[in-house]
Amino acid sequence: MSVWVTWPALTKLGTLGVVSGLLVLAVERQALFENNLFDVENYAGYNANITCDARSQAARTEDGTCNILSNPAEGSVYRRFGRNVNPAVTQGETTTLLSPNPREVSNSLMARDEFKPAPSLNFIAAAWIQFMVHDWFDHGPNADADPIQFPLPPGDVLGSGSMSVKRTQPDPTRSSSDAGKPQTYRNHNTHWWDGSQLYGSSKETNDKVRSFVDGKLKVNANGTLPTELLSGKPVTGFNENWWVGLSMLHQLFTLEHNAIASKLKQKYPAQSDQWLYDRARLINSALMAKIHTVEWTPAVIANPITERAMYSNWWGLLGQGGPRDDFQAEVRMLQADLARSDSFVKRILGFDPNVAPGVGNSAIDHALTGIVGSTAPNNYGVPFTLTEEFVAVYRMHPLMRDNVQVYDIGSNQVARTIALQNTRDRDAENLLNDERPERLWYSFGITNPGSLTLNNYPNFLRNLSMPLVGDIDLAAIDVLRDRERGVPRYNEFRRQIGLNPITKFEDLTKDAATLAELKRLYNNDIEKIDTLVGQLAETVRPEGFAFGETAFQIFIMNASRRLMADRFYTKDYRPEVYTQEGIDWVEHTTMVDVLRRHNPQLQASLAGVENAFKPWGLNIPADYESWPGANKQENLWVNGALRTQYAADKLPALQPVNVGGLIGSILWNKVKVRSDVAPAGYEKPIHPHGVMAKVKFVAVPNNPYSGLFQGSDSGLLRLSVTGDPADRGFAPGLAWKAFVDGKPSENVSALYTLSGQGANHNFFANELSQYVVPEANDTLGTTILFSAVSLKPTLLLLNDLAEVTQAGAAVAKPKAPTQIYFVPRTELRNRFASTAHDFRTDLLTLNAGTKVYDVYATSMEIKSSIIPSISRNYAAQRRNSAVKIGEMELTSAFIASTFGDSGVFFKHQRNEDK
Ligand code: HEM
Ligand code: HEM
Repeated sequence: MSVWVTWPALTKLGTLGVVSGLLVLAVERQALFENNLFDVENYAGYNANITCDARSQAARTEDGTCNILSNPAEGSVYRRFGRNVNPAVTQGETTTLLSPNPREVSNSLMARDEFKPAPSLNFIAAAWIQFMVHDWFDHGPNADADPIQFPLPPGDVLGSGSMSVKRTQPDPTRSSSDAGKPQTYRNHNTHWWDGSQLYGSSKETNDKVRSFVDGKLKVNANGTLPTELLSGKPVTGFNENWWVGLSMLHQLFTLEHNAIASKLKQKYPAQSDQWLYDRARLINSALMAKIHTVEWTPAVIANPITERAMYSNWWGLLGQGGPRDDFQAEVRMLQADLARSDSFVKRILGFDPNVAPGVGNSAIDHALTGIVGSTAPNNYGVPFTLTEEFVAVYRMHPLMRDNVQVYDIGSNQVARTIALQNTRDRDAENLLNDERPERLWYSFGITNPGSLTLNNYPNFLRNLSMPLVGDIDLAAIDVLRDRERGVPRYNEFRRQIGLNPITKFEDLTKDAATLAELKRLYNNDIEKIDTLVGQLAETVRPEGFAFGETAFQIFIMNASRRLMADRFYTKDYRPEVYTQEGIDWVEHTTMVDVLRRHNPQLQASLAGVENAFKPWGLNIPADYESWPGANKQENLWVNGALRTQYAADKLPALQPVNVGGLIGSILWNKVKVRSDVAPAGYEKPIHPHGVMAKVKFVAVPNNPYSGLFQGSDSGLLRLSVTGDPADRGFAPGLAWKAFVDGKPSENVSALYTLSGQGANHNFFANELSQYVVPEANDTLGTTILFSAVSLKPTLLLLNDLAEVTQAGAAVAKPKAPTQIYFVPRTELRNRFASTAHDFRTDLLTLNAGTKVYDVYATSMEIKSSIIPSISRNYAAQRRNSAVKIGEMELTSAFIASTFGDSGVFFKHQRNEDK
């Protein structure tokens, strides 16, 4: 039997599985609430000194007091961390503190040999979680007295000698009533999810960040934050362990605070600075909590069940709008089922509805109705604190990269690589100003963080220079801290939080080298495995999870508790406290909106991006078709083509035609699929390589044809050759896609002839057309292959292009040509060599504004004859009758890209589909 929790397997049951999986989670969370909350603080003494004034009824206080009016010290700054494991097992380690040697654990199990990326996340996700952690907790500066000393292991790069690590600052509030109890530590930030990383956890810090005008925070005229004189770091709520990712986020959410304050000022002009500030802080904090709950978390644990679970933490499954709608019907069926005495769902979840009425009901209610805004705050009878175990599972330092790669917006070519240590402290703000925030956001948006696994700890953090402290190995410290603070070792940790203990090292991983190292270091004893090591070693992870179930178990409890215990996320999450504008702001703003608001230059890069923490790139969201044509063009161009541009010296070699790849499914797709991007798994067996540009079709006014033939401002033009010219000669081809507002795009392709123009490598030597004469010597046999899907395999129709205008209007009496000709402009005809060379290097020199083709069209019927000379005669007659109807003009340079070669899709309209 596997030791791992099986609930993810429920996803396989489809929707019912998702919903019931959710309920399992909710029930599991409730069991944890009942068994795993331990308070270690004495509140009464603190409460005696706290007065909750009128302001604190409807505003967050600077030090976090007065959230729970009946126990005002609860959750405030300097209150102790609680525990999620029985305090009896939390005695800090003494005799075992250095075993195994923390530096050796770092050297052999943590050190990053090569960077292992987390491909489903971007680097914003890494900076974000540190930003959140700085809101939640901090153990304060370490103690100077009596540091922990241990020898460097043999062969250490630092040589022989020892390593010294300062101890965590002891709790100065211990009293005689704590005698004999395990050590405790204080949180130097408020425990609440209140934006204290921006606003501080004291009145003093708070006053430093405020401008005291119109409720706003201090910002320099150029949008940067004021900096401290000595350190050069921004003046903000919490600025430890600083690097450029934090500079970006602190600037962004300070600007967001000010945008909220402006909106409130506009609506409530008579209100004071304090009133505006208090509301803006509530709103901005709730916005960050929501982004974390419904965007960051689902990105990190991208599993259908947990995604719903996070939505339901915020809204419940029964709210309105958004992704919840899909689940409404199922949830209502489920509710009906749960109300029955013979509930099917309760039975499969393992409840006996007759014996234990009500078991799990409140958890189920929570899942269905959401936490935020709905009920009275509930701390399950244990005062709310964050816990040492919560701190332990957020030791996610492997998310960090060892460098920041900077890109030009829209590009995938690294413009500059900066070692991470050169982005820290004072350098962070300098970098933000030199590179500009929008370039850094784009760069973070498209790069991956590290994955949370063994041997992926950033090297700069294992050799971190700290002002006033010296060089430290953070990996060794991470391991040591959990031991020092009495966080149980991995297997006991699992037992304590209701998970199955592992029974052998092989439960963790199958990797032979890792297993050998684990067994050696931990002396073949699974009970000795450090908590962090075990978590990073877990290779069995629920589908889509960036971390394993041990961390997740702690996480589901604390994530919801932070919301459930807080008055401002439960009963006071209402217009009377937040203002209606405030509630609307929180509910209707996403991380993408925040990024866009303060970085308008990212408009195109964010097109279609739904979750800002997943790698940005080409996304075709559900409502894509309804977009204006110009936006669809920009999305494909910026996020498709530009993003995947080949380096100038790395054009892929031209491929011969893959005749075997011209299988029925590909051919049918080509004439049936109405989409701008190729279906998954689609490959281009012919024309695999070429170049693409943005293009407009400038129509000759009053030409006889309708719809897009009257003009198309937003299009894509791809020029390619059938296969490798060295193989069967040079056969140029063209594909044009014209975007339409609110409707699918229309396309046409054109060739010179099926077999091409022989040894002539000048792309503009000949005219191209959407009809070519069948060839007796069609060596490829494409005509025969294509006959599988069309009786006229050498003809494409133009009717679809005539039936709709670029504004999306259906044409009442469409008029389409029977044949069109793309005639190279005279100035291009002899511009490029006809000798053998790569045609792409010619085309890549053509810039925006270049007119490439004159377009001619005729309405003469297409007739052919089995006698080739007669066919040629008909063709000549048609060509002679054609008139110029417009010009194809580039609106960008040509570029070569992976997207252009395998992503973009140009439908063919066959003769049968009139
Ligand atoms: C440039 C990036 C970072 C630097 C320089 C940094 C540095 C540090 C340092 C110096 C400590 C204190 C170590 C001690 O106990 O003596 C620490 C603790 C910690 N860091 Fe980081 N860190 C970084 C990024 C992150 C990230 C991305 C996370 C992700 C969640 C994270 C989570 C934590 C946690 C949970 C602690 C424990 C805090 C506590 O004990 O209260 N850090 N970090
Ligand atoms: C109905 C019969 C036809 C079938 C089944 C067919 C099928 C295909 C397939 C499978 C591809 C490669 C994959 C792709 O580009 O998406 C392709 C590309 C192409 N076809 Fe056709 N084709 C047909 C007729 C024609 C005709 C009559 C012309 C022009 C006279 C033509 C011009 C092109 C061009 C230029 C490309 C390259 C498109 C690009 O640049 O992406 N095809 N066709």
